[in-house]
Amino acid sequence: MKFFIDTANIDDIKEAHSLGILAGVTTNPSLVAKENVSFHDRLKEITQVVTEGSVSAEVISEDSEGMLKEAEELATIAPNITIKLPMTIEGLKACKILTDKGVKTNVTLIFSANQALLAARAGATYVSPFLGRLDDIGQNGMNLISEISAIFDQHDIESEIIAASIRHPMHVTEAALHGAHIATIPFKVIKQLVQHPLTDKGIEKFLADWEQANQ
Ligand code: E4P
Repeated sequence: MKFFIDTANIDDIKEAHSLGILAGVTTNPSLVAKENVSFHDRLKEITQVVTEGSVSAEVISEDSEGMLKEAEELATIAPNITIKLPMTIEGLKACKILTDKGVKTNVTLIFSANQALLAARAGATYVSPFLGRLDDIGQNGMNLISEISAIFDQHDIESEIIAASIRHPMHVTEAALHGAHIATIPFKVIKQLVQHPLTDKGIEKFLADWEQANQ
């Protein structure tokens, strides 16, 4: 499973990138709104840091014509921009047209296996099931990853599954075990993945032993 970062914060993106683990970035209108910056300028900055991995930029239009118009402008920012589309009838129409043009797409706000299958058949490069938001309403988000993974394997579907709406480290481990190709993770959770109390304790002991031996 690969790691994407789920943020529009440029400092977090730069730091995560410096760890050498980053395969891409996802943004959404709520994440961009938090930053108080121009959407296009921020995407430009992000694509200057993450030059090879996918950078998802979400459209806000609700009709396919509007989505395609936005996609056209977003695609001029950098070659690694992926167009993020909502899982709606209009989103699927836009997905098919963009796929035919060779533009990469990420169909977002997926909450059922049928939605994922539809998005894949419309040509989505990525499908994004939202784990945390399902957990929030008392449904098991991880079951959805398993179902989508089983269906995609059984039918040789190439769309990649992005486990989204990740809230804690166990989501990451379980998403990997259940067949997600990618997890898109807030920076706070990426940092939590690094930590283990025995690692801290081990470093403390090594340093103490070293100091004692060199007194
Ligand atoms: C994915 O692409 C979305 O940006 C994101 O994971 C949504 O997460 P949230 O449910 O924490 O807002």
